[in-house]
Amino acid sequence: MQRILVTGGAGFIGSNFVHHLVHHTDAQVTVLDKMTYAASRESLAGLPESRVSLVVGDIADAAVVDPLVEAHDAVVHYAAESHNDNSLSDPSPFIQTNLIGTFTLLEAVRRTGARFHHVSTDEVYGDLELDDPAKFTEATPYRPSSPYSASKAGSDHLVRAWVRSFGVQATISNCSNNYGPWQHIEKFIPRQITNLLAGGRVKLYGAGANVRDWIHTEDHSSAVLRILEAGRIGETYLIGADGEKSNLEVVRMILGILGHAEDDFDHVTDRAGHDLRYAIDSTKLREELGWTPQYGDFADGLARTIDWYRENEAWWRPAKEAVESSYAAKGQ
Ligand code: NAD
Ligand code: DAU
Repeated sequence: MQRILVTGGAGFIGSNFVHHLVHHTDAQVTVLDKMTYAASRESLAGLPESRVSLVVGDIADAAVVDPLVEAHDAVVHYAAESHNDNSLSDPSPFIQTNLIGTFTLLEAVRRTGARFHHVSTDEVYGDLELDDPAKFTEATPYRPSSPYSASKAGSDHLVRAWVRSFGVQATISNCSNNYGPWQHIEKFIPRQITNLLAGGRVKLYGAGANVRDWIHTEDHSSAVLRILEAGRIGETYLIGADGEKSNLEVVRMILGILGHAEDDFDHVTDRAGHDLRYAIDSTKLREELGWTPQYGDFADGLARTIDWYRENEAWWRPAKEAVESSYAAKGQ
């Protein structure tokens, strides 16, 4: 598999995967990215031009997608509108990119026979009770809550239908919450880090009891590469690293690392329909494909992520005021 098309490869997780591919394979990589507000050319800086090229374009535009897919052996599909809060303010781009965009890619790989890996989210399963010992598995019924997670659930269904009806050579992965460098500052962990670095305060939705299952983005990348190389066609693999933490716990860790008192935060308006808890059982991926996470120490990963945002203020600073004004307008 020498020529790999990575959609959304200038975003947070997609760009990490492009670096991972360059360091762990000898593939030629093309990034197809619309360069929305969430994308960043800097996240791809320093990669060899002989190995990686960027095409700016929309995955929902067949005129762009078809010749690109034709020229590649595999497509790894990260491109999406990815932020739940934005999907509550305006669902429309989520439907266009996450559903129509995925449909456009599937039609292209149907024609060429290229291998397709669809990157999805654990949010398609809805949420778990806080006191429920259960975790999501590949058999958990779909029950998405937000326009974002409903659009990702719909895209997963499209992929399965194209496998069954048209023989498309696809796999799907559903991963839990990622953290690490290059994550947009609209998201929970970088928002709180950059609030404190900018002299502001931490903003916790509701009581902060909601639980997320954190995984370092580098572990997500190694799992996707493993599935691309060895996953069984038509199968779904859940990706997680046993990183459950309440939002309050995460906030207290960030405050502690940055030298603030542990109650130095504001409770703000809760997210509508806010999912309570996500938790991943990744036994299938570990046992069938032999994958294990390498970045399981969340406290250490968080400290390194904080260092990264401290050292890369020039990257996040220009977006900070607009992101915070938009949150403030919603009481968040
Ligand atoms: P992100 O918002 O940081 O990046 C998304 C990228 O997709 C951006 O570069 C953007 O420009 C691009 N894009 C958006 N619309 C496009 C279009 N129409 N055509 C081409 N490119 C387009 O997102 P992320 O957090 O890196 O998430 C990447 C993928 O991983 C998404 O599919 C998301 O659902 C999935 N995922 C994310 C997480 C997480 O914790 N962030 C967890 C599990 C799965
Ligand atoms: O589970 C995987 C999903 O994780 C991905 O599919 C999504 O693309 C990704 O954005 C993420 O979704 P969440 O909604 O869980 O992530 P977010 O960073 O927006 O919020 C994490 C938790 O923190 C959530 O419970 C809401 C809360 N929160 C968020 C923000 C931005 C706060 O308490 N304060 C905040 O300021």
